[in-house]
Amino acid sequence: MKVDDIKNICVVGAGNMGHQISTLAAILGYKTTCTDIIDEVLKKAETFVNKYLPGRVEKGKLTKEQADRARQNIRFTKDLKDAAKDADFVIEAVLEVVDIKRKLFADLDKMAPSHAILATNSSAIVSSLIADATKRPEKVINMHFFNPALVMKLVEVVKGPHVSDETAEITYQLAERLDKVPVRIHKEVDGFLLNRIFKAIAREAHWLLEMGIASYEDIDKACVYGAGHPMGPFRLNDLTGIDLSYTMSMEEFKKTGDRSALPIPSLVERYFRGEYGEKTGKGWYDYSDKK
Ligand SMILES: NC(=O)c1ccc[n+]([C@@H]2O[C@H](COP(=O)([O-])OP(=O)(O)OC[C@H]3O[C@@H](n4cnc5c(N)ncnc54)[C@H](O)[C@@H]3O)[C@@H](O)[C@H]2O)c1
Repeated sequence: MKVDDIKNICVVGAGNMGHQISTLAAILGYKTTCTDIIDEVLKKAETFVNKYLPGRVEKGKLTKEQADRARQNIRFTKDLKDAAKDADFVIEAVLEVVDIKRKLFADLDKMAPSHAILATNSSAIVSSLIADATKRPEKVINMHFFNPALVMKLVEVVKGPHVSDETAEITYQLAERLDKVPVRIHKEVDGFLLNRIFKAIAREAHWLLEMGIASYEDIDKACVYGAGHPMGPFRLNDLTGIDLSYTMSMEEFKKTGDRSALPIPSLVERYFRGEYGEKTGKGWYDYSDKK
């Protein structure tokens, strides 16, 4: 297969990441199916597309024709079989739980055409933990977008030991076609590239907070006004999801037994109160006034 042969993209999971990745693919001319197991999530994703595209026309970023074409390119379905049946490239963006992803990839392996590449957008689960759930491990790869996927340019393409050169190259080229700036990661490593750097910052920020050295607001201010970061680690955590941080930290702890990977008590409290950040209206900060 060549990148030019990719016409149909299937995005599995219509949450935080999936709804934006599928919108992006549709805008860039791919016939896109977006699927999720929850009706409400799919409806929300569809409502987003119906508002986002006209908004881009109003801002002069898309012509009316481009927006109309993008709308025609995307469809939403709860039926995974239907979503995957014609896919040349699948991008999985479901919950960050390895067993869920393994089961899904085993299903996708049966449902998607045999030439299709199956990519995971996982933030931390390397594709070799998933690939052997399929009969096409050489076509299973990490393709890691950043949040918000419509805006952030970086895509990390990770070539695990089982991934063929062709799969890695096509994935890299597809990221370019999706108007992204891909980087090649030659070996599987926890957290890939940028999240390892972010994790080092977050760990230090959490330690400063837990030791009572500074408030999270001031730690964020220091990063923004001293280091020129667009936002501090706590504000960023609200954007990416406290639930995701919690799950990732617990998965890392289960895998390594390293207690320093455990989430800090103030994050755990928020997680169990259901305060996941922007998406629930509250996290480290309060968004209840924000429409
Ligand atoms: N949130 C981020 O900032 C971010 C950034 C980069 C990568 N990621 C990765 O993207 C993936 C999704 O993260 P998210 O933040 O979008 O999560 P999310 O919780 O917002 O969305 C996940 C969606 O997957 C759906 N789902 C669960 N099981 C499914 C299945 N078997 N089939 C179809 N849909 C299913 C859920 O209903 C949910 O809507 C994770 O692997 C995460 O590590 C997240």
